[in-house]
Amino acid sequence: MERVLSLEFARVTEAAALACARLMGRGDKIAADDAAVKGMRGVFDTVDIDGIVVIGEGEMDEAPMLYIGEPVGNKKGPKVDIAVDPLEGTNLVAKGLNNAIAVLAVAERGKLLHAPDMYMDKIAVGPKAKGCIDINAPIEENLKNVAKALGKEVKDVTVIILERERHEELVRRIRAAGARIKFISDGDVSSAVSTALPETGIDLMVGIGGAPEGVLAAAALYCLGGDMQAKLVPYTEEEERRMKEMGIEDKDKVLQLSDLVTGDDVIFAATGVTDGDLLRGVRYMGDTATTQTVVTRSKTGTIRFIDAVHVLAKKPDYNKRGL
Ligand code: FBP
Repeated sequence: MERVLSLEFARVTEAAALACARLMGRGDKIAADDAAVKGMRGVFDTVDIDGIVVIGEGEMDEAPMLYIGEPVGNKKGPKVDIAVDPLEGTNLVAKGLNNAIAVLAVAERGKLLHAPDMYMDKIAVGPKAKGCIDINAPIEENLKNVAKALGKEVKDVTVIILERERHEELVRRIRAAGARIKFISDGDVSSAVSTALPETGIDLMVGIGGAPEGVLAAAALYCLGGDMQAKLVPYTEEEERRMKEMGIEDKDKVLQLSDLVTGDDVIFAATGVTDGDLLRGVRYMGDTATTQTVVTRSKTGTIRFIDAVHVLAKKPDYNKRGL
């Protein structure tokens, strides 16, 4: 992929964020998601790629745009697979809570796991703790190993986890081990990525969330030099069937980072919708709006934070949609 594509993907996530952030706090997560999808879709076809959505808004018959298998891009560039979540954390925007992002990952064709819409058990860390996690090991052991890798004691390790009933036992054990916990109500892509950016203060991400979100997080950690392991968690027979269709016979199969994403050239981009640990959210200033985006590329490992001021009158698509 041409290096300049990184900036093009930043434009794509910026468009999604700008489109949906207006709906912050309105209590309508579907409208917010819809706006993000339209915002993202509109810009994609200006990008020089021959892309196919492999993780998107749903199957072709359930999603009008950014559905799995949908071609995106102007076909003038490399053949790539794309994972998108135009609005990761729909509830967060609906309630005006922190950490909603617009996010995508791009890799060469066939290099992203085509994760179906089911749950996934995940454990993720940043570069310093790479190689020190084991999803099958007790959490206490992971905490000790991560603490050692980070040159800390377990009591100084901060674990981020979705606040869900299914995590009660895990939370009890993390507390008993003495580590610190930061709960999130939604948005585990952002939380996994945070482990690779020391300024966020987050050391370890654990717990069960969405599988598509898992692949997006893996793409970021792949670029940032972090680590992740995962296991699919099919709850229904249909999900089990879909898992087997993907060639994963055993739900206990540990997916390493390289099973989730691989290849020589992976790009991850995310723009903040609401303020968060990772990124500042969209601010509307009247004639302009500001966004903050992070873009990173596996080939170079460069992490670029892009602060943009958008002159709204000069954005024809944005104005056409009357946002
Ligand atoms: P949406 O953006 O689709 O609302 O998903 C948000 C999210 O919190 C993800 O970040 C997470 O992986 C998943 O939902 C967790 O699912 P559940 O809410 O069912 O526990």
